[in-house]
Amino acid sequence: MALIGSEDRSPDDTGWLHPAWLPRSLTAPLRARTVLVVAPEHPVIRTVVDELSHAGAKAIWLTDTDATASRAVIDLTITIDPELPPESFRLARHGGQTSLVGADPKGVLYGHFHLLRRGRLAFQGQWRQPVSTPAIGLRMLDHWDNIDVHPVMGQVERGYAGGSLFYDAGSLRWDLGRVDQYARLLASVGVNAVSINNVNVHATETTLLTTRLDWVTRLADHLRPWGITVFLSVNFAAPIVLGDLDSCDPCDQRVRQWWADTTDRVYAAVPDLGGYLVKADSEGQPGPFAYGRSHADGANLLARALSPHQGVVLWRCFVYNHRQDWRDRSTDRARAAFDHFVELDGAFLDNVILQIKHGPIDFQVREPVSPLLAAMPRTRVCLELQVTAEYTGQQRHVHYLPEAWQEILGFRPWGDETKLWQLMAIGQSQSPESTTTESPRSVRSGGAIAAVSNVGRDEFWTGHPFAQANLYGFARLAWDPTLTPAAILDEWIGSTFPEANPDLAPLLRQIILGSRALYESYTAPNGVGFMVTPGSHYGPSVDGYEYSPWGTYHFADREGIGVDRTRASGSGYTGQYHQPWADLFESVETCPEELLLFFHHVRWDHRMHDGDTLAQHIYNSHFDGAAAIHSLARLWTQADGLVEPRLYRRVAERLDEQCRCAQEWCDQITSYVWRHSGIPDDHGRPLY
Ligand code: GCU
Repeated sequence: MALIGSEDRSPDDTGWLHPAWLPRSLTAPLRARTVLVVAPEHPVIRTVVDELSHAGAKAIWLTDTDATASRAVIDLTITIDPELPPESFRLARHGGQTSLVGADPKGVLYGHFHLLRRGRLAFQGQWRQPVSTPAIGLRMLDHWDNIDVHPVMGQVERGYAGGSLFYDAGSLRWDLGRVDQYARLLASVGVNAVSINNVNVHATETTLLTTRLDWVTRLADHLRPWGITVFLSVNFAAPIVLGDLDSCDPCDQRVRQWWADTTDRVYAAVPDLGGYLVKADSEGQPGPFAYGRSHADGANLLARALSPHQGVVLWRCFVYNHRQDWRDRSTDRARAAFDHFVELDGAFLDNVILQIKHGPIDFQVREPVSPLLAAMPRTRVCLELQVTAEYTGQQRHVHYLPEAWQEILGFRPWGDETKLWQLMAIGQSQSPESTTTESPRSVRSGGAIAAVSNVGRDEFWTGHPFAQANLYGFARLAWDPTLTPAAILDEWIGSTFPEANPDLAPLLRQIILGSRALYESYTAPNGVGFMVTPGSHYGPSVDGYEYSPWGTYHFADREGIGVDRTRASGSGYTGQYHQPWADLFESVETCPEELLLFFHHVRWDHRMHDGDTLAQHIYNSHFDGAAAIHSLARLWTQADGLVEPRLYRRVAERLDEQCRCAQEWCDQITSYVWRHSGIPDDHGRPLY
């Protein structure tokens, strides 16, 4: 039996590196094939030709479309058809020859990897696949990597997979071999942009704009051959931080000139930079509020500087008061992004894209979809997800995030057929059927989706080997948001373990599918959010954020728990939704139960739909959830011998930790509910 990954080695690491979903055996069907590539000279086509050669194929590359190939028998032809939609491709097999037609070099690259996923079938029979087109134009990963090791956050903020691929303790990594391999993984699933530094831009990272610009050039040189565009996170106060000016007021002419000049120099070094990513007036980051200016003033300042270079600004809407007085019951953090931005609709320049977190709070295991995503019809918007599992088990717990993302992308903001992903595909928060006469945005128009990356120097890339499926799943959903989590998982299993014992796939499915619901069952219940340990955000601390300035409260008392966000008696947040949601969320009866405590303060003895009290519901889900994790850990022992021993051991270790942590969550939450409610467990399970 083939052991997975045993033949793959990293060129730059001293040790072993798991090949993720690109093990060498995946390219086996290409071995000894003759491939005719008819495409102009281009770095991305060069990459494809190199890939073919490494796979053992004989590639004949004709850069002149009029040239005729030799009379060799051709197994695969690769050509370009600019009539296809950007980045798309078409695969077919006819008359004993497979053909890959790409719209452009990136289409060829993506088609090449898609062909590999077909395995041996790629060279058998007759078939034709429909044109595969990415649903969303900009498919981006945000790295929260620091150049210096941050005293609290480390090398990668919220990183759970070892150090940064890009930086090491104050320098750019000397050997960027891992970056090449990462880029290859991303390209194989269609990711086409990466931001290379943390959104919290400290003084050192600010110099990427100026004295460390050569680092950006180097990283861009490594990512470009894989069709990946580089973005820079910039500090809004860069003119001050770098010591050039005493102001960063977006309406100050000197500041405007500074950004224009600086950006010209950046583009002289990296002419195809995608643009800037900005976190402003958020969690201590500087922003336009300091000068009494709006976020449109702030974003447009940078947009103007980027415009001559076709660059865009991704401007984050994660703006809220993180120094709230917990005694102040009138402020609701969930309202903040909408309240700050909605009135600015139409005020942003064409090359500004607002990047909006999927929920109104902060990547919790369960939040409603942010109402802001569907509230700015005259503004370009981008959905932000988090692949790194900050609040979702930190890549120590099995947690298959596409299960949550599919719900988010499938949300129907108006209750009609229009789904959120369709808004992200056009890049504007208006229904495709909308009669608004606004012209389509001109500069680099099209949709966008971004997610915080989860990779690091770890030998499995992602800490938990199964967290690779989250990275894979993000990219696949960005390409095709109609894919189901189960289908994506099967693809991932098929590519990652191509020659595995047939018993492996069902086992993996059993452990990974449903893991989102399982994680939710033993952690913060029914959308209440934030019961994690402050700072680390790992493990339970039920009241950890209750009396803090962060605006993340559950308001538990002896009567009940949850946040009243109704229009009738609470913060009025439900009013930020279109109908039918505004009314559905408003009423305890119609509010989806998984979000009950997000929208309502509910009595412990409130009857849930199944007749149990809220307290009993929490007991049941937590005891059942913790028990289910123990069963999964036992199930995994069946994989011993079916996968590479290192992978087996890594997953086993993580499952042990998940069992411990799930039990801790269960014990703390159930005991907390019992102590507050006085309601005993019907089943007499231990409460402390
Ligand atoms: C979370 C996370 C921070 C991060 C922030 C952001 O709050 O804990 O580390 O900086 O999100 O999205 O900017």
